[in-house]
Amino acid sequence: MNQNGVVFLVLAFLTATTVSLPSSPDRFLKSALTSLRSPDVPQEYQELTLPSPSDHLTPSCSHLLLRHSFANTINKPPYTAPYTPPPSDCTSPPWSHVNLDLRAASSGDQYDRISGLWLGGVELLRTSTAEPSPTGIFWKVRKDVTRYSSLFTRSDLNVTMMLENIVNDVYTGIYHINVTLNFYEFNTIDISRRESPADLIIPVSNDGGGNRGFWFMIENSEESYSNKIQLPLNTRKIVLELYVSSHGNDEFWYSNPPDSYIVTNKLATGRGNGAYREVVVKIDGRNVGSEVAFPVIFTGGINPLFWEPVVGIGAFNLPTYDMDLTPFLGMVLDGKEHEFALSVNNGISYWLVDANLHVWVDHEAVSVEAGSGSYDSPKRHVVRKEVLEEQLDGSFKVEAEVRSEFDGWVKSSEGNLTTVVKSVFKVGSLVKFEENGAYKRVEQRVETKRVVEVTNELGKQVNRVVHERSYPRTVITSTLRGLSNDKDMYVLVTNVSQALNERYLVGEALTEVYNRQDSDGWMQVEDHNVLAGEARTRQSLSYIDEFGCYSRTVVAANGEIDQDSSSDTCPSSSSS
Ligand SMILES: *[C@@H]1O[C@H](CO)[C@@H](O)[C@H](O)[C@H]1NC(C)=O
Ligand SMILES: *[C@@H]1O[C@H](CO)[C@@H](O)[C@H](O)[C@H]1NC(C)=O
Ligand SMILES: *[C@@H]1O[C@H](CO)[C@@H](O)[C@H](O)[C@H]1NC(C)=O
Ligand SMILES: *[C@@H]1O[C@H](CO)[C@@H](O)[C@H](O)[C@H]1NC(C)=O
Repeated sequence: MNQNGVVFLVLAFLTATTVSLPSSPDRFLKSALTSLRSPDVPQEYQELTLPSPSDHLTPSCSHLLLRHSFANTINKPPYTAPYTPPPSDCTSPPWSHVNLDLRAASSGDQYDRISGLWLGGVELLRTSTAEPSPTGIFWKVRKDVTRYSSLFTRSDLNVTMMLENIVNDVYTGIYHINVTLNFYEFNTIDISRRESPADLIIPVSNDGGGNRGFWFMIENSEESYSNKIQLPLNTRKIVLELYVSSHGNDEFWYSNPPDSYIVTNKLATGRGNGAYREVVVKIDGRNVGSEVAFPVIFTGGINPLFWEPVVGIGAFNLPTYDMDLTPFLGMVLDGKEHEFALSVNNGISYWLVDANLHVWVDHEAVSVEAGSGSYDSPKRHVVRKEVLEEQLDGSFKVEAEVRSEFDGWVKSSEGNLTTVVKSVFKVGSLVKFEENGAYKRVEQRVETKRVVEVTNELGKQVNRVVHERSYPRTVITSTLRGLSNDKDMYVLVTNVSQALNERYLVGEALTEVYNRQDSDGWMQVEDHNVLAGEARTRQSLSYIDEFGCYSRTVVAANGEIDQDSSSDTCPSSSSS
């Protein structure tokens, strides 16, 4: 074969493999546009949150946890410093409330970044950054950290914050961060109904945290990371709190098509493996719980113009997931080490996962007795329907349901209490491509329910907690090409609707939270830079419990807040 023949073959191969389909949704940098329209004073960004009882109270003590500027921190160890507890003359435990106040500021051009904050390897906050503008942006995050109280008096801990950032000629935004702890004295806030914080918290996190952060980086389904934990013999209750975020090829996992679609169409994308993921917790190899985590959209995600200056749900304070593992105390209370492991079913690169094990002990006894019911692994039912059509079209569905029920008893000075934990979650997912792949519709609906029931030796129920979450979302992306001679330029029309709703029932007391965002707009894109566009996001956040109601509606359009109204009157139907 002559040389021309070889060249021809190579070219034919190239044309067939490099289909110019943007792998959307994607992550973008909005700098080029915002530098045109950014206001001349630094702008405040925010994530809408519910009012907290501490909002109008003066803390008895404020204590600086860290102050640091994250410049070119990529591939470097996290920021680490010794932690000093608040001085005893300022306040001493027990506190009625402790909150963490993070202030951030940045200016220049920069992608969104993920960040974790740990105290002694226990994660206190998973957050992400807003993409700055040349004139600067700033924001604050407030999180109730009362449940971590047992750590705050210790003087043998390091505080660690990981925020990998790139600063060079192109990306100029440095993130300046201050974190303060605010302590509130006893009795200023009614805490009668709330459970007291755990006596100790044991991290299930990366021991090498000083080098790469305490989270485990999980890159595939087979990877599992664990810690060996020896529990005190007088442990009477344990709750595992899971921290999780997904990135890289799994940042938009709910929109990933199966590999069959990628292979058939010879696409050059790693974002596959279908649209189902489950974070799994195991003790000594047994699946004791799992979670389909709420996929947080970071500020560069899908259409970055949606998230200025109101960011996506959870972007500044990612939700965490509690699992009551008390039924398993019978398996682990033998004075020996047991393996607590974390993994991601169907996960691809990469996930950042760790957990905190909250431990309550019996102060009246040096040891307790415990027994676990017979172990049945969770019942998992996953159905996938894949329809590959002409060219780049296709429709991919996943329906999943996972159920489990565990029970165990603990005989402590409080008596012989049996805990039953029932959990169920249902997931429905659709990823559909039309118009030769240019139009993509993604739908996902996740519903989870966890019931924890505690009964005494007489069979009388002493506590019942029901926690339900539902997170529906729809993401539509429509790619328009050929609008200019530049073949790397295109227009992306995007619609996103997402919600995170919760119902929390403690005994008879019900709390409900509804949080929903609807965004629509378009943007002109070249490579990953947004050159022009228009966007609008409407968010409504409401809350109702036995004491009252609260609701707030905000509309942000083209980088500014157009409407912001809030109310604390209950809808007339529920107030008589
Ligand atoms: C952090 O604190 C210092 C000292 O009070 C202050 O000058 C700086 O503006 C603060 N930074 C942020 C991001 O709030
Ligand atoms: C705190 O960090 C320093 C520096 O990385 C390290 O040498 C020390 O061992 C750490 N201390 C603890 C308690 O982890
Ligand atoms: C505690 O109660 C459970 C369930 O009723 C029972 O099976 C167990 O034997 C009791 N344990 C003790 C030590 O009495
Ligand atoms: C996107 O949202 C806008 C505003 O709600 C709506 O008019 C439009 O029909 C939506 N587009 C699609 C493709 O659903």
